[in-house]
Amino acid sequence: MNVQKLIETAKMLVADNKGLLAIDESIPTCNKRFAKLGIPQTEEYRRAYRELIITTPSLGESISGVILYDETIRQQKKDGTPFMQVITNAGMIPGIKVDIGAKAMAGHPGEKITEGLDGLRDRLQSYAQMGARFAKWRAVLTIGSSIPSRGCIEANAQALARYAALCQEAGLVPIVEPEVLMDGAHTLSRCSEVTEAVLQTVFNRLYRQRVLLEGMLLKPNMVLPGSTCPQQESVDAIADATVQCLLRTVPAAVPGIAFLSGGQSGELASARLNAMNLKFKSRSPTVGQSPSPWALTFSFGRAIQQPALELWHGKESNVLAAQQALLHRAQCNGAARQGAYNAAMEWTAAA
Ligand code: G3H
Repeated sequence: MNVQKLIETAKMLVADNKGLLAIDESIPTCNKRFAKLGIPQTEEYRRAYRELIITTPSLGESISGVILYDETIRQQKKDGTPFMQVITNAGMIPGIKVDIGAKAMAGHPGEKITEGLDGLRDRLQSYAQMGARFAKWRAVLTIGSSIPSRGCIEANAQALARYAALCQEAGLVPIVEPEVLMDGAHTLSRCSEVTEAVLQTVFNRLYRQRVLLEGMLLKPNMVLPGSTCPQQESVDAIADATVQCLLRTVPAAVPGIAFLSGGQSGELASARLNAMNLKFKSRSPTVGQSPSPWALTFSFGRAIQQPALELWHGKESNVLAAQQALLHRAQCNGAARQGAYNAAMEWTAAA
C-alpha cells in the first residue's frame, strides 16, 4: 500500500474550492432517468450524455474528481478519445463505482445489503490499471418504524470496511458512502439518531479492518427530515444537525467529507453545504468560529446533473445550454464549498 499516494489523492479530491461529480448511475438507473424525459435508453445515448458532461468547458475549476460506472470508464468521445483521457486532461481525477448494487437483505424485510465483494480484488486492480485513482461503494439504510435494524447496519458497515481495505491495497482511495435515505415522514432528530448510529458503526468496522483514515473519504447523507415530514427545518437547523452528528462520529484524521445530494434540489443542497462551511470554516478558523476538522464538500449526482439532463433531452442542439446549466451548478457548489454561495448566484444565472 502506497500510503503517501493515498493521502495525496484524498487531499486533492477535497481541494479548497472543489468537490466531486457523481456520474456513476448504473445502466438501469440512467435508463430510468432517460425514460422519464423520453430520451432513448441506449448505450449510445448514455455515452453521448456522459460526453456532454465531461467535455463541459471549465468544469475542472470546480470539480476535483468524477465518479464513473463500469460502462462509462470504457467509453470514448465520438472522435475516439477515451473518457479517461478527457477527464485527466481537464484536470479532474477519475474514479469508479465498484459495488454491484443494494439487494433485498435476507431475514430483514424492507432493508438492503450492498453486494460486490466477490472478485473485488481483481476488479480493483484492473480499474487501477485503467487509470482510476479512487472508488466508491454505496450502502443504503432506510428509516421506518423499526428499521434500520442493527443487523442491517452492521452487515453494511462490515462490507464498506472490507471494500475500503481492498481499495487501499490496490492504491485506490475508498469513498465510503453509507446513505440514510430521506424517503419517509421521519423527523430531523430521528435522521440524526440513525445517521449517528450508522456512522459510529462504520468507523468501528473501518478501524477493525485497518483502513487508513487519512487515505479515505466519507460520503454521507446530510441530516435531514424525511421528504414527507410535515416539519421541514431551516437551512441553518440542517447545517447544525449535520455537523453535530459528524463531530460525534467522524475521526479528525479523515481528510474530507463529501456529501451525496440524495434527492434534494440543487439550490437547497448548495445552500445547506454553504451554511455548514460558513458556520464551521474548515481548516481556516476566524475569530469566534470553531473549525471543522475535515474539509466539507460535495459529491453530488442529481443536484448537479438534473437541470442539464432536462435541458439536453437527448438532442445535439441542446448540448451547449445543458453544459452551461451543469457548469452553473458545479460553480454554485464550488462556492458553497467555501461558504461563498448565495441565492443571487441563481438569479444571475436565470437572467
Ligand atoms: O450514490 C449516489 C451518487 O453517487 C450521488 O447521487 O447526489 O444524486 O444522491 P446523488
